[in-house]
Amino acid sequence: MKRKQIILSVLLMFCVALIASACGAKEVQKPADNNAAQPSAQEPAKQEPAAKPTKLDEIKKAGKIVLGTSADYPPYEFHKTVNGKDEIVGFDIELAKEFAKDLGVKLEIKDMKFDGLLPALQAGNIDVIIAGMTPDEERKKAVDFSKIYYTAVQTVVVRAEDNDKLKTTDDLKGKKVGAQKGSVQEDIVAEQISGSTAKILPKIPDLFMELKSKKVDALVVEEPVAAAYVSKHKDLAISSIPLKQDEGGSAIAFAKNNPELVEAANKTIDRLLKDKLIEKFVAEANDMVE
Ligand code: ARG
Repeated sequence: MKRKQIILSVLLMFCVALIASACGAKEVQKPADNNAAQPSAQEPAKQEPAAKPTKLDEIKKAGKIVLGTSADYPPYEFHKTVNGKDEIVGFDIELAKEFAKDLGVKLEIKDMKFDGLLPALQAGNIDVIIAGMTPDEERKKAVDFSKIYYTAVQTVVVRAEDNDKLKTTDDLKGKKVGAQKGSVQEDIVAEQISGSTAKILPKIPDLFMELKSKKVDALVVEEPVAAAYVSKHKDLAISSIPLKQDEGGSAIAFAKNNPELVEAANKTIDRLLKDKLIEKFVAEANDMVE
């Protein structure tokens, strides 16, 4: 037994001495720190091939980010005449401005139909979508999303005069129900209001015109948008018809495989949420609705 121990400790000492002479005395404390990973003095490290510029690099180089939005969606994004000039305003636009500011680039806005946004992003015609877009499973397959920056519930808007007749989705059987083309509300009409006839149009203001002129009987829209219209149109009301609420969050979308853009967007969102600026932008946008 004793002999074995002596041999072992001699062997151990020998090993320690060997490592010490090989790596310099300093390294003995951390024998696990393998030197092999570092290039030796005689043999300079091979030059790594220059990394392909990321989309974020390209945006910074161009000095601008191209935003795709669908400015038919107060208070998220909508047209307003400011000092005699048509402008796109809304809390999504304020978020976009903050994002561009954080990236140190200018913001260029392209206004298009909501259902044209995803194809435009995938084709590279725009760099980013901010349009109250909900990151649903289907879309997640096609594009990458930031975290959610704002959450809303789904509502049914009706004419005020019909409000007390329409209490459940069953009451909409045989009625015409409108929703925006390519939106999650289009799916809600199809899935939750069975027995109704869907009227699907590309632009939100046209849907409200249809409701006012009795061409449709109800619309499925997100609550902030419903509230914005109802506050200006006394002949409309938000009904108490309950809907299943699984999709009401808004996130920023980028073309697939741009993790550095998603990360940068999340940073901007974190900052705005922490400083309660999204809330402020929503309130300011609501004040601008006309
Ligand atoms: N949140 C819904 C969706 O993602 C509707 C968004 C509509 N946005 C707009 N700017 N019109 O499908």
